[in-house]
Amino acid sequence: MDKQKIIQAGRIAKQVKEYARTIVKKDTHLLDIAEKIESKIIELGGKPAFPVNLSIDNIAAHYTPFPEDKTLAHGLLKVDFGVHIDGWVADNAFSIDLENSEENKKLIRASSDALKNAIELIKKNKSKTTTSQIGKIIEETIESQKFSPIINLSGHSMEEYDLHAGITIPNIDDKKEIELKKGIYAIEPFASTGVGKVHDGKPSGIYSLVNEKTPRSQTAREILEFIQEEYQTLPFCSRWIVKKFNSRGLIGLRQLEENGNLHNYPELVESSDAKVSQAENTILIDDKNEVIVTTD
Ligand code: CO
Repeated sequence: MDKQKIIQAGRIAKQVKEYARTIVKKDTHLLDIAEKIESKIIELGGKPAFPVNLSIDNIAAHYTPFPEDKTLAHGLLKVDFGVHIDGWVADNAFSIDLENSEENKKLIRASSDALKNAIELIKKNKSKTTTSQIGKIIEETIESQKFSPIINLSGHSMEEYDLHAGITIPNIDDKKEIELKKGIYAIEPFASTGVGKVHDGKPSGIYSLVNEKTPRSQTAREILEFIQEEYQTLPFCSRWIVKKFNSRGLIGLRQLEENGNLHNYPELVESSDAKVSQAENTILIDDKNEVIVTTD
């Protein structure tokens, strides 16, 4: 684990979060918000670990603006972004209420209180904290505020160029009792006014490389090389590919999909179409059993 790079990524994430709060306003284009946040990450010396997710209301996650997207910011907006330095990621999210709704504000408080309580628990119990204890405190915090945790979304351990390195941090008590040990963990409670489950929606245009088999088309080969070089196994999006390759980028992406090179992540939609809030932070537990919150 490269502790210095993670801490550096966290420092950048903290500044990006503060910046993002100043530019997210009702009726601004999601496209502008995403591009400004991604540019800010680069300006501060990091790289986006995945396309900025700007998911509204009942979409819990995995919405990033398409090229020429005209959607305007509104409702309950989740801003989920990652900063990486050489593959070491600080994953972060916050939610914002853009319609001045009491219910939205309460729902946002539920997920951010759940995150705060989970981090306090980890600071206290360190590497003895189990994943189910974290899930339990998240579940209890959200339910005590009369909302539902999303049971099939979870936090995750991370490694170099690996956003989901094997350990799941549930948002409910799943009784699995896995101790945290030394490592990097994204904790991300989601709260909902509905049933507290998500299902797959439309393809999001967020992709990751799953197979390196050479495609026949020259354009697709060029794009594959670019992906291998620029993103490795981290997610990217059609918007980024179009920026680099113009409209032939979309053709190449389709060919890569057909050739089995790419996974296209679906949008994640709340199953009762209820609103969802999210809060997320990344912590690390080092070899001296110190707990470091990357944005502190
Ligand atoms: Co995450």
